[in-house]
Amino acid sequence: MPSSSRSRSRGLTAKRALVYAGAAVVALVVAVLVARLLRTLPAVQDFIAEYPGHSPLPDGAPVGIPAWLAWQHFFNAFFLVMLVRTGLIIRSKARPPAFWTRDNSRWPRTKGAPRRLGISVWLHLVVDGFWVLNGVVYVVLLFATGQWVRVVPTSWEVVPNSISVVLQYLSLDWPVENSWVSYNDAQVLAYFAIVFVASPLAIVTGLRLSPVWPMQGGWTKVVPERFARALHYPVMLFFLLFTAVHVVLVLATGALRNLNHMYAARESDDWVGFAVFAVSLAVMAGAWVLAKPLLLAPVAERFGQVRRMPPAPAAPARSATRG
Ligand code: HEM
Ligand code: HEM
Repeated sequence: MPSSSRSRSRGLTAKRALVYAGAAVVALVVAVLVARLLRTLPAVQDFIAEYPGHSPLPDGAPVGIPAWLAWQHFFNAFFLVMLVRTGLIIRSKARPPAFWTRDNSRWPRTKGAPRRLGISVWLHLVVDGFWVLNGVVYVVLLFATGQWVRVVPTSWEVVPNSISVVLQYLSLDWPVENSWVSYNDAQVLAYFAIVFVASPLAIVTGLRLSPVWPMQGGWTKVVPERFARALHYPVMLFFLLFTAVHVVLVLATGALRNLNHMYAARESDDWVGFAVFAVSLAVMAGAWVLAKPLLLAPVAERFGQVRRMPPAPAAPARSATRG
């Protein structure tokens, strides 16, 4: 693309982003006004009194965030940064700077010849492996330790309670909470959705698009390719939306206390959790920079063959050829 039209399209995207951001702010202000208005109505006040926002946890439910959970939470975010980065590179449809073909003389050996992959897809798949492993360990430990009761809804009351929480937050008159002991029901629903709905969807649709999925036979019909292709990207958008709201609320509802919970596994108002969080941000920024497929090509070479593509020929300079 000539540089002038590239900068024009960049200008257009910036303008569009500004319009979206403006619309979001206006929508939020309207929502706050509506919520404040609603809360003056006696019926809504009764509703909030009946459903304050918390379903009780069973007796003996674990209290607090154990260190293993803090670690898994960090690794999850760390791998997701790389998945989003490599996913966006794949989506940009830029010509891969290199291709990778698995070495089929070593484990895991397959009957069919390995498919050649763009190096970005290779990196996406490698990070997927780590992300899924981390997630499986999280879910196993969640159930092994009883910690699951904090993130899995066990009664339908989470629905009215979540509506109540959203209304209370939007009206900027927040309930007093102690998330060290239990999450509010909107948190429970959101955490459940990301762990037990969005993540499995990302995995199934991703596997369907990957070379792991058989190309022929009945398996191709179990998950149609079109379905997988249509859904994989919106699932990423859901992850991004969840994370944006999640982080804003974490910071707006007692940042130091919340960060101590999840980044230092302790209940305190000091700056320790914040310091750990700051270090984790630096590590994630490093991951974003390092998740350049070509930078990792030497690693890819240990597991297969890497063919680097010559750089695209430069477009002839117009003045020189025509002049
Ligand atoms: C086990 C989990 C996953 C697997 C196996 C997987 C696999 C894949 C594969 C094979 C592609 C290439 C599709 C193609 O050839 O066009 C792809 C694209 C992509 N992946 Fe994943 N993925 C997984 C999880 C994720 C997650 C968690 C995210 C982000 C939160 C993500 C974001 C993307 C994006 C944005 C694309 C580009 C989609 C497009 O072009 O529309 N993936 N993924
Ligand atoms: C990097 C920015 C992030 C920060 C600062 C952050 C912070 C937190 C905090 C403080 C909690 C505990 C909430 C509380 O005590 O009220 C929490 C829980 C949680 N976060 Fe995050 N988070 C981040 C990113 C993410 C991402 C990217 C995901 C997933 C896509 C995620 C998923 C979760 C889940 C599922 C829980 C509940 C875990 C459990 O108790 O089993 N977080 N987060």
